[in-house]
Amino acid sequence: MIGVRRQTQIYVDGVSGRRPVIPLDPERLEAAARRRMRPESFAYVAAGAGSERTVAANRAAFDRWRIVPRMLRDVEHRDTSIELFGQRLPSPFLLAPVGVLELAHREADAAVARAARDTGTGMVFSNQASCPMEGLSRILADTPHWFQLYWSRSDELVASLAGRAERCGCRAIVITLDTTMLGWRTRDLEGAFLPFLHGKGLAQYTSDPVFRRQIAEPPSGPPAPQPRPTLAALRTLIELTRAYPEGFVPTLLSGRGRAAVQRFSEIYSRPSLTWDTLAFLRERTELPILLKGILHPDDAARAVEEGMNGIIVSNHGGRQVDGSIATLDALPGVVEAVDGRVPVLLDSGVRGGADIFKALALGARAVLIGRPYVYALGIAGRAGVRDLLSNLQADFDLTMGLAGRRSVAEIGPESVVPAPGTAHDATLSAPRIR
Ligand SMILES: Cc1cc2nc3c(=O)[nH]c(=O)nc-3n(C[C@H](O)[C@H](O)[C@H](O)COP(=O)(O)O)c2cc1C
Repeated sequence: MIGVRRQTQIYVDGVSGRRPVIPLDPERLEAAARRRMRPESFAYVAAGAGSERTVAANRAAFDRWRIVPRMLRDVEHRDTSIELFGQRLPSPFLLAPVGVLELAHREADAAVARAARDTGTGMVFSNQASCPMEGLSRILADTPHWFQLYWSRSDELVASLAGRAERCGCRAIVITLDTTMLGWRTRDLEGAFLPFLHGKGLAQYTSDPVFRRQIAEPPSGPPAPQPRPTLAALRTLIELTRAYPEGFVPTLLSGRGRAAVQRFSEIYSRPSLTWDTLAFLRERTELPILLKGILHPDDAARAVEEGMNGIIVSNHGGRQVDGSIATLDALPGVVEAVDGRVPVLLDSGVRGGADIFKALALGARAVLIGRPYVYALGIAGRAGVRDLLSNLQADFDLTMGLAGRRSVAEIGPESVVPAPGTAHDATLSAPRIR
């Protein structure tokens, strides 16, 4: 039983004077990462849109539910595992797709993939990863891994990325719908820092044959505004030349580093995306497709009608629409609309075992974890992420057992009640169906 094992390990280490490197409290974890990471990198990870009200709302929504533990139910043997798309996960959570992990650690996604494998945790590779998906897939082998796609302006690139995902062993494709444009992220705007313009987070592109062919073609849009020739601009040129996987001098001579950034800026997302566009991918892949960013029951119902295989209720960790609905508030309506036809997952604001328990009680099949693992990566690389994931597995296991549940299947809607004094909107807390 992971909960007690992990707890014992930490306390026994304490006897020899060793304390956990990764803070267990989510706020102290964030503070420790802030101390370790470069200010602009930390800001990029922590940032929410606008006044970051949705970042706070995501957390507040969890506080509006209370777990009701049951006693004397023999919870000696517990099973926290779940099945998703034919694969078993030891705990009901996965690593959310997070781009530009090189901002936290130079081993980036590779370190995270190793920690995921160490703990059996499923991982969703980001379209904006710092490492190509094929290498990550090799690290993870049988550990479940999916690919997250941003639908670019180039259908050919979309097909190429999806084909690579299928060939390299990803078991699902997640289409993120909420980032057809970047949200108004005040911290990043104040720092005037967008990592992609520095050649970061472009590994899925620069390793892609279609993209590489495209950067040799003349740009399709109007010419990009050129930065003023300052020392900082020169430094950026060096950065993005280094980032291109062809060696520094050849890339400098060919100009491909700069061309890659420019081409990326032209095509990375498609605001004109509609439901009709999805058929393009549905026809091209056998893999299950999940839609990430769904918050309205009607969108969830439509997704099922369009042949999608899963929903991720997400507001991108509050990074897109400031003031948008918290995901836990949106969950019951989505679950009702989906009516058990496909799994519903949730992310944004999940920080501990109790949060996972509450999301499951309200109908989620699993959750995804975002910023906490990036912070752990920033603090201690692979070992940091491994500790964080082990702690989360332990926390969930203990929460489930202490609430009188032996397995995830026993966590039903009766496991939680609204906190006193909370006004749960009737439409949002409608009957919940798992
Ligand atoms: C730094 C950062 C980068 C992200 N990059 C992506 C991405 O490339 N693709 C994606 O679908 N979501 C991305 N997300 C959103 C996460 O997948 C997830 O929805 C969110 O982090 C969950 O909220 P949490 O951080 O509060 O757990 C990113 C989030 C952060 C913090």
